[in-house]
Amino acid sequence: MNVNYTELKAEQIEYVEVAELSEIPNGERLFIEIDEFNLVVFNIADKIFAISDTCSHDDNPLGDGEVNDDLEVICPRHGARFDIKNGKAVSMPATVDIPAFPVRIVDGKVEIGLPLE
Ligand code: FES
Repeated sequence: MNVNYTELKAEQIEYVEVAELSEIPNGERLFIEIDEFNLVVFNIADKIFAISDTCSHDDNPLGDGEVNDDLEVICPRHGARFDIKNGKAVSMPATVDIPAFPVRIVDGKVEIGLPLE
């Protein structure tokens, strides 16, 4: 199953407002829960990204992990790396991608795109 929701078409997504852009300054991150999703939203060099906060290796919280220069977040538990842009698992011990969500900014508010059923 493709969990990179950033590749969905507009009609397959419902955008939900989650925060003011000013709440996530450059270099910061925000943890949010919407429906069944636990997300971490990153502001990296004034670009906003949203991925699942759950590591696919052992369901550990992921979003507090360090972010490297390749836009990868490193799981604090066993060190698996995930691409923040698309949720791809790029290093062991994780082999399964995590959800990545489309993001848009509307009138200074951050909106996350959730997949419609
Ligand atoms: S729980 Fe994330 S690498 Fe093991």
